[in-house]
Amino acid sequence: MSEHSILVTGATGKSGRRVVSRLRAAGLSVRAASRNGEHVFDWTDRGTWDAALEGVRSVYIVQMDGTKLVRPFVERAVRHGVRRLVLASGRGIDDPDYAKDSGGVREGILDSEAAVRESGLEWTISRPGWFAQNFSEGFFADGIRAGELRLPAGDGAAGFVDAEDIAAVVVAALTDDRHAGRIYELSGPRAVTLAEAVATISEATGRDIRYVPLSVEEYVAELVRQGVPPADARAFADVVEPLGKGTDAYLSDGVQRALGRPPRTFAEFARSTAAAGGWPT
Ligand SMILES: NC(=O)c1ccc[n+]([C@@H]2O[C@H](COP(=O)([O-])OP(=O)(O)OC[C@H]3O[C@@H](n4cnc5c(N)ncnc54)[C@H](OP(=O)(O)O)[C@@H]3O)[C@@H](O)[C@H]2O)c1
Repeated sequence: MSEHSILVTGATGKSGRRVVSRLRAAGLSVRAASRNGEHVFDWTDRGTWDAALEGVRSVYIVQMDGTKLVRPFVERAVRHGVRRLVLASGRGIDDPDYAKDSGGVREGILDSEAAVRESGLEWTISRPGWFAQNFSEGFFADGIRAGELRLPAGDGAAGFVDAEDIAAVVVAALTDDRHAGRIYELSGPRAVTLAEAVATISEATGRDIRYVPLSVEEYVAELVRQGVPPADARAFADVVEPLGKGTDAYLSDGVQRALGRPPRTFAEFARSTAAAGGWPT
């Protein structure tokens, strides 16, 4: 085994960080790569790609959304003798009606999935739905900390998946031959409405937090008043709005299929995040 046998890109992000910890806890050698992480890797600077891939056997690919850089990166990985790829994708990627795609995200990820499948290497694709960690580390976190989550998502529900489960599936795929050629769609065990999710976090933290549904127009206007460029505000609304339609409320069995156990509940996510100080006041 070389010094760094597994490359994890997006290593400071919600899934990558947990993948790195789990691999290291298992005693495996990891190159943790991102722009601001241990090993400097930038999707937009191809001069950083070779050093990231040097001596690596397996790669977790967290791509830069809205680009088609995974295809040339995979070609480079093949030249470096990489054997196995695990790609971070998303649920609904093969459904053109799943969400509006103002930034070319869907097109980019579809191209990445095709590149990985056509690579000739062993591959696994992880397709999670909405991460539970959006409430603690992602773009709902500010609202939760402020005590009021204001979103244009009505009373929609989603099968929020814990990033710990995503990481566990990715680690299994990186380290165990049985996952080659599989696509794992990942959700939590139950669809949870935004009001319910916020109430669960409120209970876990002992803090008063509420969910306020907004219209798309109200939401965009609020973001613009806070200084967000109108096009970006509209793009955020495009991402959130399908939640209100229940687009992500269906359940997927990927965690059970990959790991032989059920996914963690939203309440488990909320309690463990609160216990770890994930919502500082
Ligand atoms: N959040 C969700 O609910 C959700 C649901 C389904 C699918 N997804 C998909 O999951 C992926 C995101 O995964 P995530 O949530 O684990 O990541 P994340 O928390 O958004 O973190 C992104 C990671 O990418 C790195 N990064 C950003 N720009 C980079 C660049 N130019 N070059 C190299 N690294 C760069 C960041 O680190 P540095 O800043 O250090 O570079 C960070 O480690 C996206 O493709 C998203 O579409 C997300």
